Amino acid sequence: SDTATLLPLKVLLAAPRGFCAGVDRAIEIVEKAIERYGAPVYVRHEIVHNRFVVDSLKAKGAVFVEELTEVPDGVPVVFSAHGVPKSVPANAEARGLDYLDATCPLVSKVHRQAERQVEHGRHIIFVGHAGHPEVIGTFGQVPEGHMTLVETVEDVEKLDFPEGTELAHLTQTTLSVDDTREIIDRLEERFPQIVGPKAEDICYATSNRQAAVKVLAPQVDLVLVIGGTNSSNSLRLVEVADRMGTDARLIQRGEDIEESWLKGVGAIGITAGASAPEVLVREVIDRLASFRDLEEEIVKTADEKIIFKLPRQLTE
Ligand code: F3S
Repeated sequence: SDTATLLPLKVLLAAPRGFCAGVDRAIEIVEKAIERYGAPVYVRHEIVHNRFVVDSLKAKGAVFVEELTEVPDGVPVVFSAHGVPKSVPANAEARGLDYLDATCPLVSKVHRQAERQVEHGRHIIFVGHAGHPEVIGTFGQVPEGHMTLVETVEDVEKLDFPEGTELAHLTQTTLSVDDTREIIDRLEERFPQIVGPKAEDICYATSNRQAAVKVLAPQVDLVLVIGGTNSSNSLRLVEVADRMGTDARLIQRGEDIEESWLKGVGAIGITAGASAPEVLVREVIDRLASFRDLEEEIVKTADEKIIFKLPRQLTE
């Protein structure tokens, strides 16, 4: 018989988990913009990759669109936390739109590095996921032809540059810490002249959440990651648990959990991507409690105190 399911289910909560400072700021920008300018406030792209967050802001008067051309004249528009190509604020200015930039300051930092490397005459190898809005935004900081995307070590093998090409590497902020290390090591082997940032571009929130899962995963039978299916940092958390040999599932909400998942499970780990709100963590715990008695425990691996300032337009 299944003795594990007769005992209370141990629930290990990763800490840190969920919202990072960049997501907190981006959501606050939309809320404050609605207060200040009144609804509707347009938002170009999902402000953060979480449906629950997007729906709550819609209910408050935000309108989400993919392109600036969908924003009517005379209404304010917010750019998402992932960042935008330079052409986007330029077009907004040309149209006389009031815009607020919710790009995470840690993404903006990578944007400035990209510009600087190109000014120094270097070609940039950018490590990231094709098609992700952050990648599109960072590529859009420099003129075309100055940046090459690599996603894997195999991509690095295929690179070919004329003798004497000066190179630099930069990365997306929400990558796998381990995979990125491998890719950069290989870049440095193949191109000893390549330069990179002093500290890696993967942000504190991404690396802290991955580190927490590494500690948590070996202690549980199943890891649940709360996050959007298009949320890069959430997908990486599933991978981290998987690679440690622990079953892991990405879920959006409590109702996604099926009782059958808990068969033979004595301990379950819970974490949340940087764009997933804490209310969803509580919802997941409530759902688990509807199946079994729970014993909650927190697995804390880091303290996060970082807070980003709001744009001046909203504080003046
Ligand atoms: Fe910024 Fe990292 Fe969050 S880049 S938006 S702090 S996941």
